[in-house]
Order: sequence, then C-alpha cells, then structure tokens
Amino acid sequence: MTQPLHAVDQEMVNSGKWTLLIIDDDAPTRQVLAQSLETLGDFSVYEAANGVDGLAQFQKLGNVDGVLVDINMPGMDGIEFVSRIKDLDNSVVAIVITGYPSMDVIIEAMRAGAADFLSKPFKFDQLRLAMERLTRERRILLDNRLLSQEVVAKKALEELNQKLEKKIREQTVLFTISDTLSRIKNTQELYQQVVTMAAALTETKEAKFWVVNHDTKTLMLAAALNAFQECERQIALDANGLPPVQVVQEGIPILVDSASRKNSCSDAFQLLVPLFIRDEVFGVLSVASPVHDRNFEEGIFLLHLLAEKASLTIENLLLYESVIQNLHATLKALVRSLEAKDPYTKEHSHRVTEVAVSIATKMGCSAEEMDSLRFAGPLHDIGKIGISDQILMKPGKLTKDEYEIIKAHPVIGAEIVGHLGLLPVEKAIIRHHHERWDGRGYPDGLRQGEIPRLSRILAVADTFDAMTSCRPYRKALSVEKAEQEIEKNGGSQFDPEVVEAFISYLNEKR
Ligand SMILES: [Fe+2]
Repeated sequence: MTQPLHAVDQEMVNSGKWTLLIIDDDAPTRQVLAQSLETLGDFSVYEAANGVDGLAQFQKLGNVDGVLVDINMPGMDGIEFVSRIKDLDNSVVAIVITGYPSMDVIIEAMRAGAADFLSKPFKFDQLRLAMERLTRERRILLDNRLLSQEVVAKKALEELNQKLEKKIREQTVLFTISDTLSRIKNTQELYQQVVTMAAALTETKEAKFWVVNHDTKTLMLAAALNAFQECERQIALDANGLPPVQVVQEGIPILVDSASRKNSCSDAFQLLVPLFIRDEVFGVLSVASPVHDRNFEEGIFLLHLLAEKASLTIENLLLYESVIQNLHATLKALVRSLEAKDPYTKEHSHRVTEVAVSIATKMGCSAEEMDSLRFAGPLHDIGKIGISDQILMKPGKLTKDEYEIIKAHPVIGAEIVGHLGLLPVEKAIIRHHHERWDGRGYPDGLRQGEIPRLSRILAVADTFDAMTSCRPYRKALSVEKAEQEIEKNGGSQFDPEVVEAFISYLNEKR
C-alpha cells in the first residue's frame, strides 16, 4: 500500500508550476526578482516584506516549493526564517540572498537548512542556475519524503499484520482450547488433556499438572506428559524453594532455569503458571524445554489462556462431580431403604443390572447407553418404596386391585429419579421396564420399537433374575428352565433380538 502524494506534489503536478516565496524588506529587489523568475517560466511567485509575514504566507499557501529570503532584515532575519520553515516542512528548498556574502554567513545559513545562496546584485544566469538547483533539490526532497512515508506506512502495516496474525493465532488457540475442554467429561481426563495441550501450545516436550490438596497440605501430581526425569508425585506445600510451591505461594507465573537450581525435578527451562478457582490457587501447570535459549514470552501468554479456560472447566466439572457423588449417595440410600423393606429385592437390582449390561454389550450399545444402564439399572424398582408393606410383602397371590397398585411402581420410580435430576433416558428405562413387546405390558402399553431399547434389555434381565430367585410363593427355577421360558416368550413378551443376545450371553457364561 502506498500513501497518497503530498498536497504540494499534487499541486505541482496539477498546475505544472513551482510555487516560490520571496521575502525581502527591499521592495525593488523583490520586484526585480519576481519579474526575472516570471521570465524564467514555470514559477508562481509570492512576496513578503519581512520574516513574520513570510512565515504567515508560507503556512497559508501550504504548498511552497522554494523560498528566496534576504539574510539582512529587521526583526526575524533570513537565517532564522530558514530554520523556522525547515522545521515546518523539511522538503522546502531555501535560498538565501545577501549583498555581503561571507563564508561565515553562508555556513550559518547552510546549517539552518539553506540549499544555496544568491548575492546581490543578481545576474540572470546566476538566478537561472540557482532555480535549476532549487527545482532539482525539491524533486529529490519530495521523493525522499515520499519514500520515508512509504517506509513508515510499510512498517505500520507490518506491525498491524503482526498484531492481526497474533490475534488470529490467539483466537484459534482459544477455540481449540474451548472446543477440546467442552468435550471432556471428568477431571482426570481434563488434567491429562491440559498437559497435552500445554506442551503442544508452547512447543515443549514436558508438561505437568499439580493440584493443591488442602487436607494433606501437598501438591499432588495429577497428570504428566513426557517427564524427562522421575519426579516426586507429591510435594509438601512448605517445601520452600521448589518452583511449583513458589507458584502456589505467590500466585503468579514464573520462569526458572532448572539446571541452575538444587532439588530440581528437571534439567531444563521451566515455565509454571497458576490456575485459580474463586481467587485461590487450585493447581499449577508447568512446561519444560531442554532448549535453553527459548523465547517463552508467547508461551507465558498461551499458557495463561489455557490456564484461564481450564480453571473454569475444572470448577464446573468439580461441581458436577460433587453433585453426582451426592446423587449417588442419595440413590444408594434409597435402594438400601427399599432393600430393608423387601428382603427379596436385596441384591436383585444389582444382579439385574449386571445381566442387562452383559446383554447390552452383546447388542453393541454405545458407551453412553451402558452408562445410563449402569446408573438406572439398580434403581429400576425404586418405585416400590411408595407401595405399602402389606402388598409388597404379601406371601400369597395378589388380588386384582393389589396387582394394580404394584403396577404403579415404574411410574413412581421414574417420578422419584426425575426429581433427583437423572437424565430423561434413565427415567425412561425405569418407567418402561414392564412394557411388553406385544404391547400388553404397563404402564403405557407401548409395543416393539416404541419401548426404549434399554428398557427391553432390562425387562429380560429382570424376569430372568425373578425366575431364578426364591419367592415367598414359589421356588427358584433353574437357569435352564428360566432360559427356556424367556426364549419361548421372545416375540410376545420380549424383544426377540434381546432374547437372542441374552441366550448368547448365557452360553458364553456356561
Ligand atoms: Fe419392576
């Protein structure tokens, strides 16, 4: 990109004439000069009688190519005038006029910025030569100015490009970090991902992630990548002098030459940054490189970005994990209270889950489906907690009404887990575990593909365990008998595909 031509260049190009300003307190001299210059041709000539007026006119014209100024004038003399206009526009060409040319005066004028001098009285040839030099000099000065403007513009452009490139790099890094972190499901996976990204971003080989443990007052090594040397997995928080401890104590990034430190974990340059959760140092991320002359400036910036994003994700994951832990504890307590109420259900839920997970594996269910099954399986009969002991523990056959009450347990169970924050898919497993393939099940009478696949799997596992367990009103069936019953009911009560997977699982188990 080039800058537009200066106004003076444009003016000269447009008019084809050079603009000259004559400053002399002697009117006849000005007149002679002006006439002579007009005779010479391509000049627009302006006049001023003293330095102050000359300066005002110079600024007003704004596009003066050259000035011819008398040295001896009252007030501002010619040398001061030259110095002032050169400060205003370094590309203007100044010629001083003197009736008494001396070496000292001429040198002083040249120092002030004059390009040439004319002695009075003028000779026409002398003036012509001076004007030739003036226009030549002016052209060179304009070219120089244009060139320096281009250099400045180019430099500014380069700086802008560098800033833009840096910004793009930052945005790309930020996107990569956010994108990677958003797909992480637990803290351990996140720690490992953070060290991998830290090493990649800083182009280093070794990375470690330490987590502060307030209970043991230590820093625990949570994840490491290519640790060059064996390193302690635990550092006491009072082990002053160790870089990770220093970062926890000071809460700021540090850069250390590990080779020069005693008790160092690594023979390399190390860069360490803190991770904060609610203004407290939660962990320390460190990268190390065996290259001693590395420029870590950008590394600090990138690690800072990573640490900031990772801190937020870690906080959310820890919160989520603690909620899930509480949820598990609550659900476990619920299952225990059901088991205490109905001894038959003791271990039943867990056995059913085990068989259901085995069938699901045979059927190629996804990892998410398996997780849901593991989570909801043990809770499938949790709704029985809302059914009176008299019905639940009745030794004999149930009446029609009593059976209707029992049939409410999948709905009650789904309601309970729904309120506890289980996923809709997990709620559905529980609600529909008594549906039948032929649509004659409960609570919604769904049929075939309408029934969630995981509920169809759980139904087979549940029936198998019920048949092979002792009940108050009948003895347990053998595995073979139960298998025959289930096989017989494939296509009516059960999904034939699930039955097939179940038989395959049993055969494998045998
Ligand atoms: Fe059930």
